[in-house]
Amino acid sequence: MIKIIEPRFSQEEKEIVLEILNSGHITRGKWTNLFQEEFADYIGVKHLFTLCSGTVALFIALKALEVEDRYVVVPAMSFMATIDAVYLAGGIPVVVDVDDYYTMDTNQLEDAVKKYNPKVVLPVHLYGQPADMDAILWLSHRYGFYVLEDAAQAHGAEWKDKRVGSLGHLSAFSFYASKNLPMGEGGAIATNDDKIANSIKKWIDFGDHPAFNLRITEFQAGIGYVQLKKLEENNKKRREIAQKYKQHLNGGFVNPEEREEAYHVYHLYTLRHPNRDQIVAYLKERGIDARVYYPYLLHQLRGAEHLPAPRAERFKKEVFSIPVHPYLTEEDINTIIESLLASIGLAPHPLY
Ligand SMILES: Cc1ncc(COP(=O)(O)O)c(C=O)c1O
Repeated sequence: MIKIIEPRFSQEEKEIVLEILNSGHITRGKWTNLFQEEFADYIGVKHLFTLCSGTVALFIALKALEVEDRYVVVPAMSFMATIDAVYLAGGIPVVVDVDDYYTMDTNQLEDAVKKYNPKVVLPVHLYGQPADMDAILWLSHRYGFYVLEDAAQAHGAEWKDKRVGSLGHLSAFSFYASKNLPMGEGGAIATNDDKIANSIKKWIDFGDHPAFNLRITEFQAGIGYVQLKKLEENNKKRREIAQKYKQHLNGGFVNPEEREEAYHVYHLYTLRHPNRDQIVAYLKERGIDARVYYPYLLHQLRGAEHLPAPRAERFKKEVFSIPVHPYLTEEDINTIIESLLASIGLAPHPLY
């Protein structure tokens, strides 16, 4: 099977894990501190808090912004944690449509902002592509809401040469096994705002406020530290594979487009075709782990308030993702291209 998710670890991670075991210092130690410093530096933020998952990173971020009984705008297409965190934090989600890049439709966002006066807008950099941060930040200045970036799928992605996760008031990351920066489980909140950082601390540091223990262990941080060093190279490989897919699959499928202002990191390579279900079944029969991200829209999943979402409705029926991870071999890539073309009755390109 050509897997869609394939984290790989080298001797360096193994040595660090062994060192941690031998030291007996398995939580709240040097690797957690080191990872936090390095990742903060990489993203370009002043404060970074590691937590045990991306879902709790979103939840704590929303708690810190005090969203109770206030509206939070989310896009129709994302993993369910994006909307679930809003409910868990006591907010009221409002769902808007996506644009042709599968990220929040910022025209509709303005309608939603006028109608609901949200406290927070939560754009998702879906599949590794940054949302239109210029438009979102402009609206934030004009109407006065917080911007919480869901960067769970976009480690290293850029918007006009700035890393996503550093653009809004705060952001949430995930280090789940499938992510571009995997550590098994894990998450982080990043912010440049001292006041927000203090509110976050109250929720995760024991003291004079009821708090949670949401820490990662030294093992996760040690693995994350090495994976961070590989991130740039791995993202480059993802982009090269994406380029090749695009070259060969254009015409037969709707390929993902990179925004002009963006550096897309292809957490997922997501195509569209009206015969999606047959194509996915065909690929699976041939040992290619194609999957649908996501077979639901957030408002339908949780019965949330929403604006009309015709694009997301259409995309939900047509999207599917193919393996794009950096450990694919040339042979894997060629098999995927050939199988995709064969699934719609086309032969590979003559130059191929
Ligand atoms: C867009 C998005 N948001 C949030 C999450 C939640 O992260 P986690 O699985 O680490 O809780 C994920 C990933 O799983 C995700 O893809």
